[in-house]
Amino acid sequence: MHEIKKYTQANRLAWNEAMPHHQEANKSKWDDRFSRAGYSVIQSPELELLEQIDLSGKAVAHLCCNNGVELMSLKNMGAGKCVGFDISDEAISEANERAQRFGIDCEFIQSDVYDIAPRYNNEFDLIYISIGCLGWLPDLPGFMGRVQSLLKTRGQLFIYEEHPFAEMLPSDDMVDMDPQRIIEPYFKDEPYVETDGIDYVGKKAYASKPMYWFVWTLSDILMGVIEHGMQLKHFSEYPEDISTLHSRNQTEGPAIPLSYILIAEKG
Ligand SMILES: C[S@@+](CC[C@H](N)C(=O)[O-])C[C@H]1O[C@@H](n2cnc3c(N)ncnc32)[C@H](O)[C@@H]1O
Repeated sequence: MHEIKKYTQANRLAWNEAMPHHQEANKSKWDDRFSRAGYSVIQSPELELLEQIDLSGKAVAHLCCNNGVELMSLKNMGAGKCVGFDISDEAISEANERAQRFGIDCEFIQSDVYDIAPRYNNEFDLIYISIGCLGWLPDLPGFMGRVQSLLKTRGQLFIYEEHPFAEMLPSDDMVDMDPQRIIEPYFKDEPYVETDGIDYVGKKAYASKPMYWFVWTLSDILMGVIEHGMQLKHFSEYPEDISTLHSRNQTEGPAIPLSYILIAEKG
């Protein structure tokens, strides 16, 4: 099997395995919230920047959309055509079921981001990526190339992500360790192989199928954007932990970068 597929298909199985755990913890919460007209999960700091972009009528794709709650929120904020792509069959089926049940006009498609059909090329005003997407991807330059081809000219890429700096630090479950001690390399060519489960929602421990997490540095991300014909429009860093793994760093020690927002525009 092609090296990239080896990783993405393993991650697909692991995410299919994880979704029932997440759903046990939050499915009824999301059903309840999206039963309210106009509900949105989008908060500061991305809210202000998305409001400046003005989503009204814009065609939006969410890559690695999981169960679709962010894309449905963007739709409720006024976006036009909304399409979510995710490799997990279970996540996509939850997203489609909820969107149909509450009449939220989003389409969710099961696809590896590397295999998104060419018919979507030049279709989107905005590609949205949020919290915990880039690390699952074995080929960042290839991903940026796909983003570039999906965007219309002058279309924008919006990334709200965990900061690569945090990849070096112990996670909250390493309770005896100083949360600001550097224990992992910043530059890492091989992926982490995880089998500890990913129920960061319900926090249920389970032995999972193997999954692969890749560390992309800030220069990988910035140069990935620039080398694929996109111009950097905005970059901001924040001390807030959006990963649910490094919350101790918000209250202990000096403020360090734990999340960032990047906006780029296709030329
Ligand atoms: C942590 S979620 C991020 C979504 C959302 N921000 C959230 O918090 O639920 C990561 C998602 O990336 C998806 N994913 C991982 N690799 C992918 C790939 N190669 N193509 C498409 N989706 C992928 C997973 O299935 C999962 O739903």
